[in-house]
Amino acid sequence: MMDILKTKADMQAWSAAKKREGKTISFVPTMGYLHKGHVSLLEIGKPLSDELVLSIFVNPTQFGPNEDLDAYPSNIRNDLDLAQQAGVTAVFLPDKNEMYGPNYQTRVSLDHLPQYLCGRSRPVHFGGVATVVTKLFNIVMPDVAVFGKKDFQQLAIIRQMVKDLDFNIQIIGGEIIREEDGLAMSSRNAYLTPEQRTSAVCLSKAIRLLKQRVAKGIRSVPDLVKEMEAFILSFEYTRIDYIELCNPRTLEPVETVQAETLVALAVEVGKSRLIDNALIEPT
Ligand code: PAJ
Repeated sequence: MMDILKTKADMQAWSAAKKREGKTISFVPTMGYLHKGHVSLLEIGKPLSDELVLSIFVNPTQFGPNEDLDAYPSNIRNDLDLAQQAGVTAVFLPDKNEMYGPNYQTRVSLDHLPQYLCGRSRPVHFGGVATVVTKLFNIVMPDVAVFGKKDFQQLAIIRQMVKDLDFNIQIIGGEIIREEDGLAMSSRNAYLTPEQRTSAVCLSKAIRLLKQRVAKGIRSVPDLVKEMEAFILSFEYTRIDYIELCNPRTLEPVETVQAETLVALAVEVGKSRLIDNALIEPT
């Protein structure tokens, strides 16, 4: 049996009742249009608790004015099928007018982590994410929440926020799930035309190129980035937002690859802004 809850009060009452029965709750927040990446997070959460809650909410406050909020893809029926197959016990499907009422005025913000990587071209994004995830945590009241490493910066921000604001929730990171050719799965891949889809493989291939260069002993970040840029721009329809090598804990940029390093990149392929990342070990 999979319960579908559409109001905050119903979701909170559901979770409170489970807790009174001594049940624990795993939680996977999403914006829907589920793919195997989302399903992998449900599979991680399933054995960790008695209950498994999925939320589907296209959160307006994490989209900038010129971003794809209105175009964001949706297929609730398919999402519910996948949720059922993954053993979800409750789906939370809130309405944006209930999530953000007319006098809504509170935001959660972090001082440092949102300033890097995607935060630079998406200045309101992570404040919107931190705020909605706080609200979802208070509504669903989970013991465990699972987020994907595909959004490495988002996961880092959630971990920091949980620590700073004393949420009693265990945060788990799930590995990036990819298509056969290496493209990281994303709801936004649905925007790609067949020609653009061919170019979209450049992100994961550029990461592979970087790993090869680091293995050969190249350590200079400007040299490594220059090579990745040229490689990506050799694909059609690509525009680079950023390619960065940084400290995986602070997200501060590094100049040489010495310790474990995060490579993160965002590339527009046609209208779709795609992201990818990996940890690099200079051994
Ligand atoms: P959404 O983009 O729907 O992603 C939901 C979760 O799925 C996130 O934790 C994301 O990192 C993870 N995910 C997406 N693609 C993945 C892949 N290929 N492999 C592994 N995990 C993947 O991220 C959001 O929604 C929102 O910002 C949200 C946290 C729900 C707040 O609104």
